[in-house]
Amino acid sequence: MSWRSRLTQPANLAPGGFRSLVTPVYRGATTTFEDAASARDTWDQDDLAYTYGQYGTPTAQELAARVCELEGGYRTFIVPGGQSALALVDIAMLETGDHVLLPESIYGPNRNLADLLMQRLGIEVSYYPPLAGADIAAQFRANTRLVWCESPGSNTMEVQDVPAIVEVAHARGAVVALDNTWAAGVLFDAFAHGVDISVQALTKYIGGHADLLLGAVSVRDATLYRRVGETLFVLGMTVSPDECSLALRGFQTLATRLDAIERSALTSPAGWRRVPRSSWSSIPRCRRAPVTRRGGATSPARAACSPWCSQSAFRGTTCSGSSTRCGCSTSATAGAG
Ligand SMILES: Cc1ncc(COP(=O)(O)O)c(C=O)c1O
Repeated sequence: MSWRSRLTQPANLAPGGFRSLVTPVYRGATTTFEDAASARDTWDQDDLAYTYGQYGTPTAQELAARVCELEGGYRTFIVPGGQSALALVDIAMLETGDHVLLPESIYGPNRNLADLLMQRLGIEVSYYPPLAGADIAAQFRANTRLVWCESPGSNTMEVQDVPAIVEVAHARGAVVALDNTWAAGVLFDAFAHGVDISVQALTKYIGGHADLLLGAVSVRDATLYRRVGETLFVLGMTVSPDECSLALRGFQTLATRLDAIERSALTSPAGWRRVPRSSWSSIPRCRRAPVTRRGGATSPARAACSPWCSQSAFRGTTCSGSSTRCGCSTSATAGAG
């Protein structure tokens, strides 16, 4: 064999049997097939053979299976980020003339997706109070097809009555999708509470180290699996096996990190409990809220940022009163950071 042939058809390969605890990073766009009959283009790499790297490498498929196992769904799709996961759900589930309901506490860019893109595609968009529970019934229209939940909600942290919303939605033939990012897919059991589609920004808790961007869409059943899968197939959202490998590494420390976050969340706002709720006039608009620091001293209004300030770097620091320093005014007007 010529040296040129050896470049692509080597005779010497590394010995097998390296039993690492870590999922290998499988790279690959084109794959080989046993025979011509197996060479068909399909997105379904779970039930059919691998066909093309775009639809999933073993690294991505393993991440999908691990997220799915944690969330208790039927199947999971891995996409390039949390925002693309939200977009995938809207594009898969909505058609021109449909109506979608979102909580007022929804993650800001999900709101932008609805207001900027969905409305342009002829989809009606409206918002409901996140604590509506069964009262959401009043917000339904004849063409309501999708209800978004996010619990807790972005920045304002309302915990929604998801089962009550699900009951109303299902009685009217609507699908319920939940952004489960804040609960890391493990602290709120979306599927046990009746949700049809659970979305996560793996970028956040699963990733955990601010060095990757990925999203996950988990579905309840085979019908939704097909609907979302066929949409993903034509959208061509691909993920890097390197990012998936980092996310898989995140699983190993997720429990420890969540425990630490919980401890810190339970201790940091302790001072707030000493301030009567009625005086939290502008939470999360932090500049007007009196702040009690650890140790009990209450600082005057406008003196410091609240723990819920959208600019985490300035939380608890002295506020200059200027929006450029801490972003408080911005969060007050936008309602979400
Ligand atoms: C609740 C929530 N959903 C979705 C996203 C979007 O995730 P990504 O940044 O991976 O697009 C974020 C990111 O901040 C988020 O906080």
